[in-house]
Amino acid sequence: MSALEIREVRKDFGSTRVLKDVSLAIDSGEFLILVGPSGCGKSTLMNAIAGLEPVTSGQILIAGKDVTWQTPAERDIAMVFQSYALYPSMTVRQNIAFGLEMRKVPKREREEAVERVADLLQISHLLDRKPSQLSGGQRQRVAMGRALAREPKIYLFDEPLSNLDAKLRVEMRTEIKKLHQRLGTTIVYVTHDQIEAMTLADSIAVMRDGHILQLGTPDEVYNDPVDMFVAGFMGSPSMNFLTATLEHEAVDYRLRVSTQGEEDVLLPWPQAHETPAMAEYVGRKVVLGLRPEHFSEEDERLGEHAEGTLFSARVTVVEPTGADILLRLPLGEKEVTARVGPKCRVAAGKRLALRIDMGRAVLFDPQTEQRLA
Ligand SMILES: Nc1ncnc2c1ncn2[C@@H]1O[C@H](COP(=O)(O)OP(=O)(O)OP(=O)(O)O)[C@@H](O)[C@H]1O
Ligand SMILES: [Mg+2]
Repeated sequence: MSALEIREVRKDFGSTRVLKDVSLAIDSGEFLILVGPSGCGKSTLMNAIAGLEPVTSGQILIAGKDVTWQTPAERDIAMVFQSYALYPSMTVRQNIAFGLEMRKVPKREREEAVERVADLLQISHLLDRKPSQLSGGQRQRVAMGRALAREPKIYLFDEPLSNLDAKLRVEMRTEIKKLHQRLGTTIVYVTHDQIEAMTLADSIAVMRDGHILQLGTPDEVYNDPVDMFVAGFMGSPSMNFLTATLEHEAVDYRLRVSTQGEEDVLLPWPQAHETPAMAEYVGRKVVLGLRPEHFSEEDERLGEHAEGTLFSARVTVVEPTGADILLRLPLGEKEVTARVGPKCRVAAGKRLALRIDMGRAVLFDPQTEQRLA
């Protein structure tokens, strides 16, 4: 039995359809992350799960029970909103304890819960303040504390860390991960942060325009995307998309990438990754998807043992990030981003030999944008 099941949920605001028959199911203890561009319907879906907005059609089941027409309180959910509203006249302590008080939890237990979450969220020193006396990030942590003080069936978090500074955000991310590992609660979590999505999720749902395009493990959505949208949305910097012609040479497929004024780059397609669909595309244009990390600087010491396809290009931009270096260089008619090691000594304007790991490349249909290999 799923902890949460959404069956063909539709939500219209007037004549605008915001959720277009969304279905998904998650197991008890699963950490599901919802991602997608602004306005795609993430918060609307969260509000529907919480019971804050009635759905137009479809069903919502929690632990196998149809809750579609239940009130938020009946659903036993704790939620942190994107626009976290705290009770302005109450102190931080009272805000955190309020949900417990409503559920008639004894005073001692309430106090213990407040201490526990305040400690976790590093807000113990703020317990006697009012929300107006807090910074945005502090308020957000209080809103988080209010949810975490309870032990509901499901936690819903809508961008709970968006107002925190980079360092605190990373700390909180780790705390949430630990908390999930310890308590094994079911969590649905919205974020715009790629790293948050990849590190926290058991599964990721990529939404676009009221639909879920792909629901899979972080590894699946990142390495095995169903279409160009998912491929381009996950990962930063984004996947490079190149126009190439698919050719069949002897027994193997290869991709020809033409560049004006330069020799064509020929990229052999690994046999292990051939798909039946490719046969229809021979002689036609396809979209080749290569992530920045599929490129590496040629290492001459490896000699014949080096893997991947060699090519060289004149680097246009060098951007050191600290841990690695991002390069911009022409490949085909476009410029691509390549991620190389921090020791790469190339300067802008100089040629560099690179290898492409075709074993991780993906192909798409240029019209439908669906994956073909
Ligand atoms: N109460 C409402 N009335 C009318 N339209 C609404 C209402 N609430 C949301 N919408 C519209 O529904 C769409 C989805 O909004 P939603 O808040 O779910 O997006 P989101 O994915 O959470 O975006 P963001 O990442 O910016 O938070 C938007 O086009 C929004 O304008
Ligand atoms: Mg939102």
